[in-house]
Amino acid sequence: MLGPSPPADRKANPEPVLTESDCRSRDFYNRRARIYDLHLLVASLLQGVWEPAERRKFVSELKLVPGQRVLEVAVGTGSNFTRIAKGVGPKGRIIGLDISSEMLQRCKRKFRRLRRKADLIEADATQLAVAANTFDVVLHFGGIKNFGNEKKALDEMIRVAKCGGRIIISEKCVRPDKPHSLRDRLLLRHDPLLAHQPPLGLIPSTVKDLTLSWFWRDTAYRISFTKP
Ligand SMILES: C[S@@+](CC[C@H](N)C(=O)[O-])C[C@H]1O[C@@H](n2cnc3c(N)ncnc32)[C@H](O)[C@@H]1O
Repeated sequence: MLGPSPPADRKANPEPVLTESDCRSRDFYNRRARIYDLHLLVASLLQGVWEPAERRKFVSELKLVPGQRVLEVAVGTGSNFTRIAKGVGPKGRIIGLDISSEMLQRCKRKFRRLRRKADLIEADATQLAVAANTFDVVLHFGGIKNFGNEKKALDEMIRVAKCGGRIIISEKCVRPDKPHSLRDRLLLRHDPLLAHQPPLGLIPSTVKDLTLSWFWRDTAYRISFTKP
């Protein structure tokens, strides 16, 4: 049992208190949901990235095992979710959480096409209505740099992971420790938030096996660690 989580496809209860920036994100993604997948595919191609291949690699590096329980925070339209579902198999359980109801609707439809039921929760990443020590893997892919409270969201992801469970945090950001190419400079001019740095300083020093790696042609980081 997952403990006192709200039923799937329901709003978290009680109504979360959102920061101004979280409200902005929610409204932005509710408007963007219809074109999100196409927009990301095209924007990635313009950066020389073939999104499906990067996602396949990202999920394969999760090394999922059938039967595991996985939580994806800010699941969006479920672009990783379907691959994760294959990794954990029919006995596994995956929960997707997002602040945007429209993104979740898209995610739900994708899942229906796979003839699987998605457990989706509409909630803020800083207020996970899920019991502590529940998931084998907690992952996040894109969004954290816009969260109203990055530290609280990270703490929540750690709280709901089992001891020995893995937490993977990924976000778009131009790799800061290499000379910037023309493409990098154009990206940064177009979206200054891509100068966001991997939030290593917010991760408790007690975690184990902490690694930082780069993908999406050096425009996304991947922080991975184990909960002690
Ligand atoms: C860049 S999209 C990433 C979606 C998906 N993970 C992917 O890989 O395509 C960012 C997602 O974060 C969600 N989001 C933004 N702020 C959030 C918050 N405070 N709590 C939960 N989800 C949030 C948005 O609704 C959106 O679906």
